Amino acid sequence: MADAVPATLTETISTPITTVRSLTEWRERVAQREAKVGIIGLGYVGLPLTLLFSSEGFRVTGFDVDTTKVDRLNRGESYIWRIEPDHIAAAKAKGFTATTDFAHIAEMDAVLICVPTPLTDHHAPDLSYVEATVHAIAPYVRAGQLIVLESTTYPGTTEEIVVRILMEAGAKRDVQVQIAPPEAKEQIDGVLVAFSPEREDPGNMITPRREIPKVVGGMDATATEAACALYGSIFTRTVPVSSPATAEMTKLLENIYRSVNIALVNEMKQLCMKMGVDIWEVVDAAATKPFGFQAFYPGPGIGGHCIPVDPFYLTWKAKEYGFTTRFIQLAGEVNEEMPIFVVRQVALALNDRSIAMKGAKVLVLGVAYKADVDDLRESPALVMIEQLQSLGCDVSYNDPFFPFVGHGRKYALNMHSTPLDRVGEFDCVVIATDHSSYEMDQIVADAKLVVDSRNATRHIASPKIVRC
Ligand SMILES: NC(=O)c1ccc[n+]([C@@H]2O[C@H](COP(=O)([O-])OP(=O)(O)OC[C@H]3O[C@@H](n4cnc5c(N)ncnc54)[C@H](O)[C@@H]3O)[C@@H](O)[C@H]2O)c1
Repeated sequence: MADAVPATLTETISTPITTVRSLTEWRERVAQREAKVGIIGLGYVGLPLTLLFSSEGFRVTGFDVDTTKVDRLNRGESYIWRIEPDHIAAAKAKGFTATTDFAHIAEMDAVLICVPTPLTDHHAPDLSYVEATVHAIAPYVRAGQLIVLESTTYPGTTEEIVVRILMEAGAKRDVQVQIAPPEAKEQIDGVLVAFSPEREDPGNMITPRREIPKVVGGMDATATEAACALYGSIFTRTVPVSSPATAEMTKLLENIYRSVNIALVNEMKQLCMKMGVDIWEVVDAAATKPFGFQAFYPGPGIGGHCIPVDPFYLTWKAKEYGFTTRFIQLAGEVNEEMPIFVVRQVALALNDRSIAMKGAKVLVLGVAYKADVDDLRESPALVMIEQLQSLGCDVSYNDPFFPFVGHGRKYALNMHSTPLDRVGEFDCVVIATDHSSYEMDQIVADAKLVVDSRNATRHIASPKIVRC
């Protein structure tokens, strides 16, 4: 096998390159923490993963195209709320650096890709970030390296996009991807490629990340074993599966399961309200069943980069097989309708008090997509604000995580967060996201009317509250 490192690289690389030639050598490099880990995409997934590997003694290099993020990390600053600057400083002390220079990919033993996988405006997968990343690393990828895609995507992506691009680029340099020998072989003579879905749950302080089992599917058994050795040194459990497509589908099943069950309980909520039954009491009672039921709670809709997005990756791919994913589409319709349902409850509640929507002063509490996260992506609160404004309401918001919200791909707020001591000035306060810092007793005491879409005021009995 020819040495695949381009000659020009010798000027930019800072550490010597060791080409791993066998699984035994790979395991040894992992065990001794000699394996260098490169993480591409330093966002909500990639940065915590970086810190996790670093805390376990690996020398980690972070890659991103966003120079602001790279500069901030190299200055020891954090841009994610639950990550303290101390965590960045600790990683830097262990050799962590961030860079926009993909030439350093050649120095890495493992490269983990955590870039965005959103939907286009037409609800089709947008794999442009994955494609751009693989094109950027392809000139520097070499035999003996492990490349793992972690971004959520449809089954087939690793093979159809990652491997294809690496093969095309590698053909010119005599660098091949190892593909599907039936059993793991000791010798490593190509690039190892795998998919391992990210199961990060932002805001979840209960399950430490290392205790979330890591599913791994390699293009061949050697890649699976190498990836399991790496992740197994960090995570308490790895779950090897037979192929990248299986691992890709596993992640989608998990998120589709959530989307469908949330839609079900949201539909049940609407019927319960008509029937005068408290859906939250129903769910809590059903949850006492020791088998066959998992509790999902209703809310104002779904948000974040995952649940509203990922299922439609499968819907799109299914069309290639002439298959219609009816559950996914129905769940999407029900969940997307929920913010509009909440706005309707605001209109009805104001109407009861003889207040017109046009000109009504409405304060939306919480614009993040869920409690205690600093993430606005696909947040139902943004849809609510847009709907309320379109009906003529004078809308403000409060969110401790967002002192100001400008504009994004799907919203244009350009507003500052309203202090909570002004709650009494509003005709209606809508609880869209129940951040734990909100003191609901005080908010209800100060407010004229509260529309609560999260059951955050469950402990308060007040005629001012409308739960929906
Ligand atoms: N956020 C979550 O809770 C979560 C949970 C599980 C899985 N995921 C999946 O993980 C992936 C990443 O999600 P995220 O929330 O971390 O996204 P993010 O937007 O927070 O971070 C992605 C990062 O990738 C960088 N990036 C974009 N293009 C790049 C390129 N060509 N090269 C290098 N860097 C590039 C961006 O600048 C950004 O810093 C997605 O596929 C998502 O579905 C996310």
